[in-house]
Amino acid sequence: MRKCSGVLLILTLAVGLLLFSPSPSPTPPPTAATAGPVAHLLPSLPGLSDLYPPAANSTAQLSWGLLRPLLCRSDALPGTAAGVLEAADAWRNLTVAVAAAEAAEEGRPQGVGPSCPASVKGDLRAGRAALPCGLAEGAAVTVVAVPREGAALFRVEMLGANAEVVLHVNVSLGAAGMLVEQNSWTPEEGWGRQERCPPAGDVGSSNSSLQLSPVDGLLVCNEKAGARVIQDNNNTVINITGNQLEDGQRSKGHRQLSSSSIVEGEPFTVTLWTGLEGFHMTVNGRHETSFAYRERSAPWLVAEVKIYGDLELLSFLANGLPVSEDVDMASVAFLKAPPLPKKQTFLLVGVFSTGNNFKRRMALRRTWMQYAAVRSGDVVVRFFTGLHKNEQVNLELWRETQLYDDIQLMPFVDYYTLITLKTISICMFGTKIVPAKYIMKTDDDAFVRIDEVISSLKKSNSHGLLYGLISFQSSPHRDKDSKWFISRKEWSYDMYPPWAHGPGYIISRDIAKFVVRGHQELTLQLFKLEDVAMGIWIQQYKNNGQQVNIVTDDRFYNEGCDADYVLAHYQTPRLMMCLWEKLKAEYQAICCE
Ligand SMILES: *[C@@H]1O[C@H](CO)[C@@H](O)[C@H](O)[C@H]1NC(C)=O
Ligand SMILES: *[C@@H]1O[C@H](CO)[C@@H](O)[C@H](O)[C@H]1NC(C)=O
Ligand SMILES: *[C@@H]1O[C@H](CO)[C@@H](O)[C@H](O)[C@H]1NC(C)=O
Ligand SMILES: *[C@@H]1O[C@H](CO)[C@@H](O)[C@H](O)[C@H]1NC(C)=O
Ligand SMILES: *[C@@H]1O[C@H](CO)[C@@H](O)[C@H](O)[C@H]1NC(C)=O
Ligand SMILES: *[C@@H]1O[C@H](CO)[C@@H](O)[C@H](O)[C@H]1NC(C)=O
Repeated sequence: MRKCSGVLLILTLAVGLLLFSPSPSPTPPPTAATAGPVAHLLPSLPGLSDLYPPAANSTAQLSWGLLRPLLCRSDALPGTAAGVLEAADAWRNLTVAVAAAEAAEEGRPQGVGPSCPASVKGDLRAGRAALPCGLAEGAAVTVVAVPREGAALFRVEMLGANAEVVLHVNVSLGAAGMLVEQNSWTPEEGWGRQERCPPAGDVGSSNSSLQLSPVDGLLVCNEKAGARVIQDNNNTVINITGNQLEDGQRSKGHRQLSSSSIVEGEPFTVTLWTGLEGFHMTVNGRHETSFAYRERSAPWLVAEVKIYGDLELLSFLANGLPVSEDVDMASVAFLKAPPLPKKQTFLLVGVFSTGNNFKRRMALRRTWMQYAAVRSGDVVVRFFTGLHKNEQVNLELWRETQLYDDIQLMPFVDYYTLITLKTISICMFGTKIVPAKYIMKTDDDAFVRIDEVISSLKKSNSHGLLYGLISFQSSPHRDKDSKWFISRKEWSYDMYPPWAHGPGYIISRDIAKFVVRGHQELTLQLFKLEDVAMGIWIQQYKNNGQQVNIVTDDRFYNEGCDADYVLAHYQTPRLMMCLWEKLKAEYQAICCE
């Protein structure tokens, strides 16, 4: 709060001076920043005083001080106020928990303590199971249940720590088939737009605007219009035509409740799993519906699964939960980041990572963070991670931070809308904290061949550089339900300037300095798509009369892996290890899947 008001005072004085000084010309000088709205700093922001000042001896909060004015901007990114307030709560709790753990550790053997469990403990009577460390991509929660006689509906909910409904699935059972309604709810915005399967309107002649695009390559509604023949578990063919159910062949008295083989009195499974792009529901092993992640419906936010309705629950199962690894002190020595170099470094790599992605960070430490250039300190790699809304995750994250010394915590909760703040933070780190010649941004599911990146950079011009897989011709998504939706207020033009795809791009130091200064002076626009934002800032750098070098390299694969890759995206921890083994054994960049 102090710093905010200080800067505000200076700004007020500056405006005052401008007003009172005789104006030589009625037109503003053309050198001033042309584009972008005029921002100012808010006098205060709830929660900020709990986060500041960071501990002077903390090596995990090196850019906090520099980030502070960005949080107080009047044109802050959507979700900033909530992200800061929730981070303040998380930070207070973490401080208390760390102190308690330190006090307790004195009388206890090392390594013992609470951790993120690999399984769920469900309360079958209450129909709920806590997920103390949230969900990560690729996780699945399965419920086995028996529909009661006359069962008409059941509901499954993924709830966040603050009562937000990350995903609500309302399943109505009937002879006509399953009707599934999905939605999300936040305290700020209430219910979002409901998605229905089969889509509203006449099945068969459904309104084409309701045909949502596939999520992770899966249909949003699996239901096909018209007659369908399915088999139940007894291999009896059941013929379903529209609303008519013909079960004449069936000898049992049990009623088939829907076309998806949910049978009264017989156990069935419903699985909700998390993909890269959305949640998916499977019933008895068959894909039924998908629900694309929304701004506030990312899997890490989930704290609890709840199921209720006309069912008797038999069990909760889970796999792929975010589990922190057991610490092996011998390997910590190999994996811990070398101390920050005193002199200028060649490359800073900032890796976006979220709190409970424990396994992804370990995979990076064991693979491409073992390149000699990284171990020697010529290349510095740091994870940029926001705080989590879950206490257990924050405690695990804090321990990991202390062990490996390669995490930079952010003074906000990891909302998708705030990632651009991480980009700016990486620029700050690479210019003010470890001066680097080049600055790279990547993700924790990207494999980066550091040696190839270095040799490509040595061949390129080190001024005004943007290096990566460039998108030269793209336009904003104007569909409100898209994760990449951009309103005309946020970006009024029909096209974006050239930008590099987010899984991995590199900028030269002069650009990074321009970005940091532009945000200190409030002359650069904040924009929630971080990779496009970088393109917008570089355009402004160019508009200021500077030379820019935009270099595209199609060996940066933003949608997977291909032979001779320099960067491969969407690599799971297992694939990371496989790529690394292939590089070491065969000296070739060969993909693993
Ligand atoms: C930082 O300082 C505090 C007290 O000011 C101390 O309790 C803590 O152990 C120190 N942390 C490190 C990493 O040195
Ligand atoms: C902090 O602790 C309070 C009280 O125990 C709890 O209600 C809240 O959920 C916790 N928040 C976080 C983010 O840890
Ligand atoms: C769930 O679906 C049933 C039947 O369509 C409906 O009556 C109920 O209001 C729905 N509940 C919610 C929370 O949408
Ligand atoms: C389809 O739905 C949209 C939005 O609900 C509506 O504006 C449009 O008129 C519908 N078209 C048809 C052919 O029903
Ligand atoms: C399947 O149903 C038939 C009657 O339609 C019955 O004779 C048979 O035992 C059933 N098989 C199993 C495995 O339940
Ligand atoms: C399913 O039922 C429809 C209408 O009763 C009939 O025309 C069709 O031949 C049946 N299909 C099978 C595979 O029994």
